[in-house]
Amino acid sequence: MCGIFGGVLKKGAIAPLIHDGLKRLEYRGYDSVGFATIDAGTLQVKKDAGRIDDVVRRLKMNNMPGSMGIGHTRWATHGAPEMVNAHPHTDCNGNLAVIHNGVIENFMELKEELLNKSHILKSRTDTEIIAHLIEEELKGDISLQEAVLKSIRRLEGSYAIAVISTLDPGKILVARNESPLVLGVSKDGTFCASDVPAMLPYTNQVVYLRNGEFAILDQDGYEIRLVSDSTVVERSLEEITWSQEMAEKHGYPHFTIKEINEQPTSLRGALRLQPQYLGLLTALLDRGREVFLLAAGTSYHSCIAASYMFSRLARITAFPAISSEFIEQYGSSVGVDSVVLCVSQSGETYDTLKAIDYARMKASTVLGITNSVGSTLTRVSRAYIIQQSGPEIGVAATKTFTSQLMVLAQLALRLALMKGKISQDEGDDFRENLLRIPDVVEETLNRNKTHVMDLVDKYGGEQLFVFLGRGISSSTALEARLKLLELTYVPSLAYPAGESKHGPISIIEEGVPVIFLCPRGESRKGIVGGIMEMKARGARIISVCEEGDHEIIGLSDDVIEMPKGIKDIFSPIPYVVPLQLFSYYLAVQKDLDPDMPRNLAKSVTVP
Ligand code: G6P
Repeated sequence: MCGIFGGVLKKGAIAPLIHDGLKRLEYRGYDSVGFATIDAGTLQVKKDAGRIDDVVRRLKMNNMPGSMGIGHTRWATHGAPEMVNAHPHTDCNGNLAVIHNGVIENFMELKEELLNKSHILKSRTDTEIIAHLIEEELKGDISLQEAVLKSIRRLEGSYAIAVISTLDPGKILVARNESPLVLGVSKDGTFCASDVPAMLPYTNQVVYLRNGEFAILDQDGYEIRLVSDSTVVERSLEEITWSQEMAEKHGYPHFTIKEINEQPTSLRGALRLQPQYLGLLTALLDRGREVFLLAAGTSYHSCIAASYMFSRLARITAFPAISSEFIEQYGSSVGVDSVVLCVSQSGETYDTLKAIDYARMKASTVLGITNSVGSTLTRVSRAYIIQQSGPEIGVAATKTFTSQLMVLAQLALRLALMKGKISQDEGDDFRENLLRIPDVVEETLNRNKTHVMDLVDKYGGEQLFVFLGRGISSSTALEARLKLLELTYVPSLAYPAGESKHGPISIIEEGVPVIFLCPRGESRKGIVGGIMEMKARGARIISVCEEGDHEIIGLSDDVIEMPKGIKDIFSPIPYVVPLQLFSYYLAVQKDLDPDMPRNLAKSVTVP
């Protein structure tokens, strides 16, 4: 996730506005920054790794001349956060500059094609190929607009793109597919940005670009066209009435609820991983005599879920291990034949890094899944995958949890296919099911908001909650309970349902709410017995189950009904979502700050 800001002014320098606009987008990413402006027919580019203010001051970017230009704040996805990978990227002649937010899936094949045509690529980014594709198209003696359109039509993946060129120095050309882009118009000029807050100081008259659209901006306004056939699209401006602070949170009161609601998008991002990295991790996982899944906090819950996925799909025993326990628990047995797959949103958790040091010292193969390019985890891993969730500001992990699961599910599936543990048809069936999940999560969010708020009204005064699930749903129960602890501080327990009779049941008395996770699937039969046991002791049952599951619905005091058809092995991804909402709205009801729970830190970098 990166931030884009650009503008064409009627008079005056654009650079200070780019600086200001990018500052307002800093929450989208902040590892490097760059501007490109055009003045007197010459393109100027300045960029470097570092925080926006530092780089802008050091390179005197606010003094760049020109009344039109584009700027970018980066959250690395391809290539480390270094100067060479910072945007804008230029073509071979330095006549055009491109900035981009998103992931180009077919960039390897396009890159190869460009290298064969003697283009010189300087960075490791997917973005740079766009500049060279346009340059290549321009050799056909067509207009800049045609060349940009033809290039964009060749891109697969997600993108918001802005292009400027000395060939048409009064225009910014932009396009969008799945990454956000909004245009704004004021009496002083026209702007484009990843998000409304960037342009609010200049205008509140905006128009949102939609997927598959392209726009040409000049100092007097914009024209929108379809990328597919250049048809002109008429869309009028909207007035934004949000305050600056509300705009940064997309109109939501907190980052946590914004991030919960972003999950359909972040999950789509997690489905768009580069196949070669997935392939590399799969091959390395397969080489291990044993696999450890190492993590802390929410990421540990992803690892528990993954241990079920690896076993069920790929027939591999993978041991979930808490980072701070790893050395004592498994240290003596870890060795050269062990593979340690570390999952860490930040890539900086002290306990996880310490366990990695140990595993490396024992010559184990260390692999990583993280959300932070350039983090320590990426440097110490033999191979790693970036989960593509974008920055998460809320301290309690929400969207990064579901995306970790999405990455782990894809690894388990690949491993299963590679080892021949499932047939190609079965693999296709699982893959189709995974591809449906972002839509299912979207539907879950749309249909449950009011219902969950009603449940918060009904159960909000309770002093104790119990979360139970069987099979992979026990990981969902653990994570749902952790969200409740982090956001509301209400004491609660989470257990595998079958284990609850060995102790936890002793705390059940009349009226205690027990939340059951009951997706359809292998574990579904056993859960009914668990519900009966709890009901017999007076518990009130809240079930998260598939819609139309009359048996469960009949046994429950309240239900959260989930869309049909998701395989239970992937069910933690959608099933945790309504319970994230529950904890969030309960925190709000209790007048707590969900974004910054007491005593907790987003990244724990101390022992
Ligand atoms: C802290 C955060 C949690 C996170 C855990 C592990 O406790 O508050 O949200 O799950 O660290 O962080 P990591 O960055 O390693 O996933």
